[in-house]
Amino acid sequence: MNHKVAFNFADGKTSFFEVKANELLLDAALRNGVKIPLDCREGVCGTCQGRCESGQYTQDYVDDEVFSDTDLAQGKMLSCQTRVQSAASFYFDFDSSLCNAGATQRLQAVIAKVEQVSSSTAILHVDASSSERLLDFLPGQYARLKVPGTDAWRSYSFANRPNPGNQLQFLIRLLPDGMMSNFIRERCEPGQALELEAPLGSFYLRQVNKPLVMVAGGTGLSAFLGMLDEIADRNGCQQPIKLFYGVNQHTDLCELSRLADYRTRIEGFEYHLVVSQTSPEWPGKTGRIPEHFDPQAMNANPFDLYLCGPPPMIEAVKTWLTEQRVDGFHLYYEKFVDSNSGT
Ligand code: FES
Repeated sequence: MNHKVAFNFADGKTSFFEVKANELLLDAALRNGVKIPLDCREGVCGTCQGRCESGQYTQDYVDDEVFSDTDLAQGKMLSCQTRVQSAASFYFDFDSSLCNAGATQRLQAVIAKVEQVSSSTAILHVDASSSERLLDFLPGQYARLKVPGTDAWRSYSFANRPNPGNQLQFLIRLLPDGMMSNFIRERCEPGQALELEAPLGSFYLRQVNKPLVMVAGGTGLSAFLGMLDEIADRNGCQQPIKLFYGVNQHTDLCELSRLADYRTRIEGFEYHLVVSQTSPEWPGKTGRIPEHFDPQAMNANPFDLYLCGPPPMIEAVKTWLTEQRVDGFHLYYEKFVDSNSGT
């Protein structure tokens, strides 16, 4: 049985390819044009080493001098000795350019439709089906979109998962005066051409083997919609998932029916909406997101923490965790900065 593998590199680029049954990972990489540095091919020199981030694998031989037991327990592996037994992802601590890998695709797509889903947010639906290849990415990664009629590029997380029809979604914050925001408000029409470059970024869903805490600030929700689509389509993940979704005003909240739907499709999924500005129309949680964390519960069991949002939100969560001495977690985060006109 073939397995799909992702190689992630230090520059945030990713290569995807198929590994045949019982094929060595290095051979599969080379067959697909990913020239991982190598020397001995015998598990002795350590040149082809990386780290497994998700998936099942075995290694034929690893010399004692290359990895300690601790290294092996942490997922360190040698490409020339590894055989995968499931879909898997691996991280290599060098740039993709070193092995001709991670080439992002540039695609000519068209705008399928745009939906305004809250007072400050739109979902851009993009049809990239004219591309002969599946646009492959990991849920949580992002694409750069060229604002039509300009030379400006803007980055947005995918709000869904890869699919054979290359139908893509992006949550877009509508700024008072932003290049993409103005385009969407003033000139965007179905059928318009749109150029995009993807996949990009090292923020993506790893193998889920611990409880997950996801924290989304504003349109940072986009990355989590992709991850939750993936988990729901896999029929859950055997681990509890808590999503905290924070916005400035209650009218900024979007995709609430989709979140409610995940609750029926993913066992153990719960979500909490937090609005920073109080208002008589919002009876729910208010203030900053970390005020609604439970430090006792967080200290009870190790968990994976995913943060995606503007820098102040990321810093607020990190500061709170330090102050509360919560430390049994593995942190993955993506900070994004809203682009204003002229930037
Ligand atoms: S090439 Fe030497 S250990 Fe893999």
